[in-house]
Amino acid sequence: MKAKAKAKATDPQKRSEDALRLNAICPYYTMFPLDFPLEHLAAKPDATRVLDPFCGRGTTLYAARLAGLPSVGIDINPVAAAIAQAKLTKVTPGAVVRLARQILNSDRLDEVPEGEFWHWCYEEQTLREIVTLRKNLMAMDTPTAAMLRAILLGILHGPRNKGLPSYLSNQMPRTYASKPAYAVKFWKARGMDPVRISALDVIARRANYLLRSTPIPQGGRVYLGDSVETLREIRNKFDLVVTSPPYYGMRTYVADQWLRSWFLGGLPEVPYNSSGQIARQPNQEAFIRALAEVWAATAQRCHRGARLAIRFGALPSARKDPKRLVVDSLHQANAGWIVKEVRPAGTSPKQARQAEQFGKAGSAVEEIDVVAELNSRRPNSQNR
Ligand SMILES: C[S@@+](CC[C@H](N)C(=O)[O-])C[C@H]1O[C@@H](n2cnc3c(N)ncnc32)[C@H](O)[C@@H]1O
Repeated sequence: MKAKAKAKATDPQKRSEDALRLNAICPYYTMFPLDFPLEHLAAKPDATRVLDPFCGRGTTLYAARLAGLPSVGIDINPVAAAIAQAKLTKVTPGAVVRLARQILNSDRLDEVPEGEFWHWCYEEQTLREIVTLRKNLMAMDTPTAAMLRAILLGILHGPRNKGLPSYLSNQMPRTYASKPAYAVKFWKARGMDPVRISALDVIARRANYLLRSTPIPQGGRVYLGDSVETLREIRNKFDLVVTSPPYYGMRTYVADQWLRSWFLGGLPEVPYNSSGQIARQPNQEAFIRALAEVWAATAQRCHRGARLAIRFGALPSARKDPKRLVVDSLHQANAGWIVKEVRPAGTSPKQARQAEQFGKAGSAVEEIDVVAELNSRRPNSQNR
């Protein structure tokens, strides 16, 4: 049964396109395409539980669910954890809409943020609805609330389209939130006043589209926290790890998602502190050491013979060789990971490169895929 489910999920001919929709609930910077984890699930047919210690929007977790396997994801960014959470959840569109309506009819309101940005970004009543949904959802942790929260993160900002609106904001990219001063200048220069958009209508359309045919949930969990600390606490054992650490030189994961971070309870401004982010290491050696710690902690939670697939990149401005960074970190981990394969990302016929999804800025990023296997001899296991 499991083998059948895996074959169906990993074979593009056999899988249903409707079942893939939930994966696109909200974009996330440097997310990898679903085909990347699906390819490694197909290459490890005896896998029983999957891990992603830098799970981002939960692409690996969703691939595992499609393949009929439980999974665990860890991410230090609350936006990532909230999106990933939805990938493990099954709720009906009706339940999501009912919860949204119930919240919007409640009188639990919150202060509306003030200032030019907010005035231009959202029409007054739309902003009041967003604030009400934000305040109420912050106190809820049911699966329906998790799904509604992730849907709202996905519709909070994006382009203004011609037909029925898909996003609640004035014109903005959907992948990242513009900085306030830039956005206000943009809207003012074009005389683009925000228009009234009913949050409930957009939520209902989105829920009906995304949740029409979701795969059976397979269990698992998303942890919000540092991967090394979390891996030391969990008890599960894994045989497949598919992951993508923060790209070297990329320091804007949190700042670029400032509006979504605000929605989850952050301050109504661009945060300059992103503590715990591995990409914030002061230099290359520190970055390699930090990654090595993750691979060592991962090995402790893996069975012998486990497969580790890593997609990694470095921004051109960092002038670093991504292959060297990953391979050195695996060696420095001294945990039994044997490098089996290194190739440019996306050279497998089915795969698009991760950076391609981000247009011009991303296309210069050099990306590689590295596959390692956990050797039966684990050199430093006596020290732990
Ligand atoms: C390249 S992204 C992962 C994208 C993911 N593969 C996807 O498809 O969405 C790297 C992630 O690592 C997370 N991260 C950075 N430092 C971390 C840490 N110390 N512990 C856990 N996650 C961390 C970032 O927040 C970011 O979401």
